[in-house]
Amino acid sequence: MSSPLVTWSFPTTIVFGVDSVATIAERVKALGAKRALVVCDKGVVKVGIAERVRALLDAGGVAARVYDGVDPNPVEANVLEGVAAYRDHGAGCVVAVGGGSPLDVGKLIALKVTHDRPLADYDDAIDGGALIGANVPPVVTIPTTAGTGSEVGRSGVVTLAATGRKTVIFSPYLLAKVALLDPALTRSMPARITAATGFDALTHCLEAYCSLGDHPMADAIALGGLELCAANLQRAVEKGDDLSARGGMMKAAMMGAVAFQKGLGACHSLAHPLSSEKGLHHGLANALCLPAVVDFNEQAAKEKVDRVRGLLDRSAKSCGEAVRALRKRVGLPDGLKAEGVTEADVPKLTAKAFEDACHRSNPRAVTAEDLARLYRESL
Ligand SMILES: [Fe+2]
Repeated sequence: MSSPLVTWSFPTTIVFGVDSVATIAERVKALGAKRALVVCDKGVVKVGIAERVRALLDAGGVAARVYDGVDPNPVEANVLEGVAAYRDHGAGCVVAVGGGSPLDVGKLIALKVTHDRPLADYDDAIDGGALIGANVPPVVTIPTTAGTGSEVGRSGVVTLAATGRKTVIFSPYLLAKVALLDPALTRSMPARITAATGFDALTHCLEAYCSLGDHPMADAIALGGLELCAANLQRAVEKGDDLSARGGMMKAAMMGAVAFQKGLGACHSLAHPLSSEKGLHHGLANALCLPAVVDFNEQAAKEKVDRVRGLLDRSAKSCGEAVRALRKRVGLPDGLKAEGVTEADVPKLTAKAFEDACHRSNPRAVTAEDLARLYRESL
């Protein structure tokens, strides 16, 4: 397990390898900071990772304070509390540790430290990213899951107090300066969360590859990510201590997030309301909707969908079948009913899904009726 660390810049500097977290103090000091705010949630504290990161910073001469108040679905108050903690500590850098929520909140805390307007003004839906300048303090990300890819993403999602709406804030200045990808940190994920978050990574790669638009770099990265998912997802679920499989999924998650700057598709539009309205885990929501979306897209993106089938399971009759079989092998349910979603939920979910922007880059144009049908097929 002592293979050397490798470093990629894409454009975030990504340090990959078991024990890469041990380099945190030198990374922070190289960014010019002597004091850091560690942003995480209670789960990261519970498994001991927050204290480990704090102690590593301390031992390396960086005074660190932990802010662990991030909610599973982050709200504006989390960001504002974090900003107060950052100022009170006199921090010069944010170290965000955890799944997508702490990583997103960490980026938004850094934003608000130097940007005085209300968060609503930076909403991507009104091109608020144009108000964001280069003076955002440095952020280092340390993911403890393998799914969202937020560690290399340029956005943060938060529910605003005034509107109660999940709001995306997007700017290249929100990119982490350094991401430390340490497969050993994902060992604490239980099998079901490994499967669900892994399906988020797989869905990012699949939807990005099949989405409209010409982006050969994103396509190549998405295909590489899909190969990694095919080779590692089941192994990571079945053998949580297999650091090679865990590392493969961390790479796939990171590559999925790089690839989806090209665009996503209808599956993410279906998944978002399932989380906001029905409380489903985002990765699980994708896993439950993806086969129906792949079937729906098959004729419109025949070559691409068939290439994905070949990567997932050459012997499968269709790409949708390959996805269903993998979902079963990793122990996830085969429909939304198992998660308490019923026919009665479909109209409201459909209205929200149609408002969601992700389906605009789906390879086959979707109407509200199509989305309703895809929900029903996924029940
Ligand atoms: Fe996602």
